Amino acid sequence: MDSQTVMRIKNLSKTFPGRKGLPETEVLAGLDFKILADKFVCIVGPTGCGKTTLLRILAGLETPSAGNVELGGEEVNGPNAEVGLVFQEFALFPWRNVLQNVTFGLELTRRNRREIIEEARHYLDMVGMSGVEKHYPRELSGGMKQKVAIARTLALQPRVILMDEPFGSLDAQARNLMQEFLLGLQERTGVAVVFVTHNVDEAVFLGSEVIVFTARPAVIKKVYHVELAHPRCRTGDNFIAYRREILECLGEEIKTAEENIFAG
Ligand SMILES: Nc1ncnc2c1ncn2[C@@H]1O[C@H](COP(=O)(O)OP(=O)(O)OP(=O)(O)O)[C@@H](O)[C@H]1O
Ligand SMILES: [Mg+2]
Repeated sequence: MDSQTVMRIKNLSKTFPGRKGLPETEVLAGLDFKILADKFVCIVGPTGCGKTTLLRILAGLETPSAGNVELGGEEVNGPNAEVGLVFQEFALFPWRNVLQNVTFGLELTRRNRREIIEEARHYLDMVGMSGVEKHYPRELSGGMKQKVAIARTLALQPRVILMDEPFGSLDAQARNLMQEFLLGLQERTGVAVVFVTHNVDEAVFLGSEVIVFTARPAVIKKVYHVELAHPRCRTGDNFIAYRREILECLGEEIKTAEENIFAG
C-alpha cells in the first residue's frame, strides 16, 4: 500500500440474512475504492442503499460478507482508535459535561489525569468550544454539540474520520457554518474524511471527490473529482454545473430505488 493511501476498500460486499423466513438483503455488491490522506470524500446515494452499512464496516462495527477493508495496510477486523466516528447515534453523553465528553476516549489511554485534561482542552480550543467546557450537552445548540463531538473524535488523533449525516439535523444557516468550520479543521489537521450526506450542495461544497452510489445493492455509479478551489462559491457557474450533474446522476438512482420499493 502506498503512503498516500489511508484506507483501501477491496471488493466489499454485504448481505444481511433475512429474519424468520424473510429474504436476505443484498446491500453492498463489490465496492472498490481508496481513501487517500488529506482527502475529503463525500458519499451520496438513495436512502437505504447501504451508506451507513459501509461506514459501519469501515469502522469495524460490522463484518463484510466478502472482500475486505485495510487501514494502513492492515485488515480491519474490529473497532480501531485510528478510525474516528461522528454518527448521529454516537451522541454526546448527557451526564458528562463538555470537557468530560472529550476526555472520555482519552481516559482509555494510560496517561495521567492532568495530561488528559490539557489534551482535551487543546481540542476544545481547536473547535472554538473552550468557553463551554463546564456546560452539559442539553445546554448547547445542535451545531455546538456537533463541534464537541468532533473535538472528542479528533482528540484520539484518528487517521480518518467517518461522518454519517453529521449536520442533518441543523438548520440551513448553521449547516453552512459547520461546513466551513469542518473544512478549515480538515485543512489544519490533514485528517482524511469520509462524509455521507443526502445533500448534494453540501457534497460539492466539501468534497475533493463525490462518490455516487447506485440503488441497493450499492455499487459505485460514478466518482466526481471536484476541481474547485476553496472557499467554494455555491452560486458560481462551475459549482452549479457539478451540482446539476451529480443531482441528475443521483436522481436516476433515487427513481430506481423507488421503483424497487413499489415492486416489493
Ligand atoms: N443490521 C441489519 N440487519 C438487517 N438489515 C439491515 C441491517 N442494517 C441495515 N439493514 C438494511 O440494509 C439496507 C441499507 O441500510 P443503510 O442504513 O446502510 O442505508 P443508508 O444508505 O444509510 O440509508 P439512509 O440514507 O436512509 O440513511 C436497508 O435496506 C436496511 O434495512
Ligand atoms: Mg444511513
